[in-house]
This record gives sequence, structure tokens and C-alpha cells, in this order.
Amino acid sequence: MMSEQWQSAHSAYLQRINKLLQQHVNTLPDLAPQLKAAMEYALLIGGKRVRPALLYAAGEMLNVAIEDLDGPAMALECIHAYSLVHDDLPAMDNDDLRRGKPTCHIAFDEATAILAADALQTLAFEILAEYPLRDRLEDRRIRLVRYLAKASGYQGMCGGQALDLAATNKVIDLVQLETLHQHKTGALLKAALQMAACMSDCATETQTKLHQFADAIGLAFQVQDDILDITSDTQTLGKRQGADLELNKSTYPALLGLSEAKVLAQQLYQQALQALQGLPYNTAVLQSFAGYIVNRNH
Ligand code: IPE
Ligand code: IPE
Ligand code: MG
Ligand code: MG
Ligand code: MG
Repeated sequence: MMSEQWQSAHSAYLQRINKLLQQHVNTLPDLAPQLKAAMEYALLIGGKRVRPALLYAAGEMLNVAIEDLDGPAMALECIHAYSLVHDDLPAMDNDDLRRGKPTCHIAFDEATAILAADALQTLAFEILAEYPLRDRLEDRRIRLVRYLAKASGYQGMCGGQALDLAATNKVIDLVQLETLHQHKTGALLKAALQMAACMSDCATETQTKLHQFADAIGLAFQVQDDILDITSDTQTLGKRQGADLELNKSTYPALLGLSEAKVLAQQLYQQALQALQGLPYNTAVLQSFAGYIVNRNH
């Protein structure tokens, strides 16, 4: 199976990032214990760690030392965790289950969940500003900040989430749906590749190809998320199956039908593989990652 190679890389990266995130949370002072507990809850009770794992995989492929990737990987997961806490709030998707546990605002309360997500967002940039980097790479720090800020904010995830809310209970066309998905989900996955590439001295052509790869897998990731909302079950997903249908969300299966959405996921997988072709690196792990994205069951 194509995704086997990814499985072993993924599990090693997952262990690494979980350890680093836990260590970092442990260093936070007990200024506001309830807030700290909510941050820890949102950040550390599960999650596939796809974005940090992709960042590590791309960085290692480009010969970046893994220690130099730790800060960006942690920062990226902090942003993702914050986005999930806000996504689950009553004002947004109003979900009560995430990563197999009550959502942050249920386990704590709404105000604490909002603040925990805010604090995770700023923690991401604190980590990027502070994490140790060898002198030779110090000039990359501001570029890392720029990639992550852009991918998270108005021109990235937040903008996409606004489009998602605006498209609820509406029919939008395919172009609009692609824009929505590329922003709300694709942008952070693309940031993983941009940050990895920025730490290496790879050629512009390599960066271009990695961006094409990112566009394909970024969209594929959300297409598969939409498919799983229909085909999977709550236990496997760790979040409520059927939540999109219930809220009448604009999704690929809603617009195209389930089987066409599956065809699209496969086409995006092929596009991702094509983008990797001709790269002067060993792309096996990234190829395998692309397979995992469209074949995963949660
Ligand atoms: C879920 O992301 C939200 C989307 C952007 C589709 P993940 O599927 O990566 O969620 P976790 O981190 O594994 O819980
Ligand atoms: C969320 O998309 C994307 C984010 C920016 C968090 P969804 O609303 O589809 O994510 P899930 O299905 O709740 O994980
Ligand atoms: Mg949502
Ligand atoms: Mg949601
Ligand atoms: Mg979803």
C-alpha cells in the first residue's frame, strides 16, 4: 500500500511533536491554571499532527536538520489547535466532540475556550520568535513568521472560515468552494511546505513544485474531510459524523455528490504526484503522504 512509508514517518514525527508540545506547555507558569489546562487540553489530547509531520517530512527531504524544524512544527500545530477550538464554538460549527473528547468549550466553558485558542495563537508566534536557531539560519525567522501569519489570518484560514460560514445554507459554485477550502484548510498545509522550504536553500523550481504539491494535497485534505463526514462514523472520526449535513454546509459531496467527490480526491492525488515528479530529492515519503491524505479513514 502506497501509504505504508508515510505511516512509519508519521508515527515518528507524531511522537516527536507531542513530546515537544508537552514539554513546552510544562514550562508555562501557573499564572491562570484554568486557562493553561484548557490550552493543554486543546493542544495535547490527540490529533493526527498532519501539519507538523508534513513540515518535518518536507524539511528532511530537503536536508534541513530536524532540530531546525521543531519550532515551525510546534507553531503550526498551535495555530491548528486554536482553529479547531474556535471552529467548534457555538457561534461556528457548534460541535460537542473533538478528537474523541468533549470540545474545549464543553470541557471548560466558552470564555475559557476562546481565551485558550487566543493564547495558542500567540504562543505559535512566541515559539517562532524564540526557538533556538543556528546563526546561519537566523535570517529565516522573519520569513517563517510571515508564512505562518499569512496562512492563519485574513488571507488564509480565518478568511476561509468566514467564507465557510457565509456559504452555510447556500449553494455556491465549484470555484467558490475551491477558494473556501484552499483558504480554510489548504493554507496551513501549504505553510508547512513553505516553512520547510524556507529553512533549506532549495532552488526556486523546487519551491514552485512544492507549492503545486501543496495546492493539490491541501484541497484533497478537505475534500476527504468532507467525504469522511458522510462515510465514516463518530467513533472512528473522534468528531460527530454527519455534522456537515446537519448544518447544511457547502462541501464537495453536497455539491458534486459523494462518488464525484471521491473521483476528485483521486484526481488531486494524481496532481500531487505529478508535482513531485522531477524533483531532485527522494520524494517517496511525500508521495506516500499524498496517498494517506485521500485514503485515511479519520
Ligand atoms: C480537521 O483537521 C480540520 C480540518 C482542517 C479539516 P485534522 O483532521 O488535521 O484534525 P486533527 O488535528 O487530526 O484532530
Ligand atoms: C475546519 O473545517 C477547518 C478549520 C479551519 C478548523 P471543518 O469544520 O470541516 O473541520 P471539522 O470537520 O470540524 O474538523
Ligand atoms: Mg467548520
Ligand atoms: Mg467543524
Ligand atoms: Mg469537516
